Amino acid sequence: MTHVSIDLTVNGRAVRETVQARMTLVDFVRERLDLTGTHVGCAHGVCGACLVLIDGVAARSCVMLAASADGRAVETIEGLSERGATRNLAEAFTRHGGLQCGFCTPGILVAAHALLAETTRPTRDGIREALAGHICRCTGYEPIVDAVADAAAGRQDAGP
Ligand code: FES
Ligand code: FES
Repeated sequence: MTHVSIDLTVNGRAVRETVQARMTLVDFVRERLDLTGTHVGCAHGVCGACLVLIDGVAARSCVMLAASADGRAVETIEGLSERGATRNLAEAFTRHGGLQCGFCTPGILVAAHALLAETTRPTRDGIREALAGHICRCTGYEPIVDAVADAAAGRQDAGP
């Protein structure tokens, strides 16, 4: 089995590891780094549960190899949460009932954060478009859109 060495930052911390060449990024962050806030839903790039930021850009970590993250800066929901970047969003989700089981929530928070980092006042259609690749089995989506719109209206997030 082929192994590769990777050197990257994860949530601002330098990480150097040897991984199987075929290991996905989501398995790497969950199994090697114990960052289990990044979820695996479909494992095929469809549901959005595994969304992380790579060099500040949202990416589905189930369809990306850990080896491809070599030299990159990865940020997971834990990193965003630690630096307070999703605090307003999380509070708005709580106010609006934007989550029930919570399985989809980390990925949606990462996507919403990425949206608000580039568009401070998104329209509801813009929010829907940004979250179109996320599957939630519980909420019916309206409370999620309400929460993101509310967070955008009063956002004091810590920046991108
Ligand atoms: S687990 Fe990655 S998109 Fe569904
Ligand atoms: S809150 Fe359960 S899947 Fe979205």
